[in-house]
Amino acid sequence: MQPDTSARYGTLSRCFHWIMALGFLFMLGTAAAWNYDEAYFSLMKYHKSVGFILLILAALRLLWAVANHSRRPSGTLMAKLGHAALYLLMLAVPAAAMIRQAGSDKHDLQVFGIHIMSKAPEKIEWMVELGNQWHGKLAWLLFILAAGHIVMAVIHQIKGEKIINRMAR
Ligand code: HEM
Ligand code: HEM
Repeated sequence: MQPDTSARYGTLSRCFHWIMALGFLFMLGTAAAWNYDEAYFSLMKYHKSVGFILLILAALRLLWAVANHSRRPSGTLMAKLGHAALYLLMLAVPAAAMIRQAGSDKHDLQVFGIHIMSKAPEKIEWMVELGNQWHGKLAWLLFILAAGHIVMAVIHQIKGEKIINRMAR
């Protein structure tokens, strides 16, 4: 297992990055599907399961990033701010959904069939409202920011800075 260095991200950092990138692609896919056709709302149980796992991974990834901060490739202020915003949204989006879930009296939360959280005995208005107001909006913002992040990574790579090699190869 390779550690983070100033020239490249190490094994665990890469695993977090690419596994979670796939996870977010899945979240985008499910949301796009049911916005296209309400019948795909049947995907909600997978959306919730993967989203819950992404929340746990985001928290672990943040701890890992903080612990390895001084060893990692350093970037421009813009790159640092962009990554910080991605972290904030990777936590806030599923957290807002979990707060709504905790305040909802409709369904228990099951993650791939495993019981995680019982429904509230009665609806807690502010929690449901917070999720309704923020979960979807912040999620679309996260996808826009991630798209910008990918475009910037490709631009730097083409210009010869080879930053994708830090996260791949
Ligand atoms: C990082 C993880 C997550 C991402 C990126 C994400 C993304 C999204 C997106 C883009 C939508 C569609 C919003 C719209 O149609 O305008 C959505 C809706 C929804 N998500 Fe998530 N989600 C995540 C985690 C979760 C979790 C953990 C839960 C529940 C435990 C959840 C429950 C829901 C529900 C119930 C809806 C439909 C109501 C609404 O639009 O707010 N999501 N999500
Ligand atoms: C094809 C998709 C992607 C590519 C090519 C890509 C590329 C990269 C590269 C090259 C870096 C290192 C940048 C540097 O050191 O300056 C990086 C870091 C990072 N990327 Fe991505 N990325 C992709 C998808 C995503 C997605 C979907 C997210 C989150 C939603 C994300 C979040 C991050 C974060 C937070 C960092 C900072 C390092 C870390 O803590 O992991 N990336 N990415």
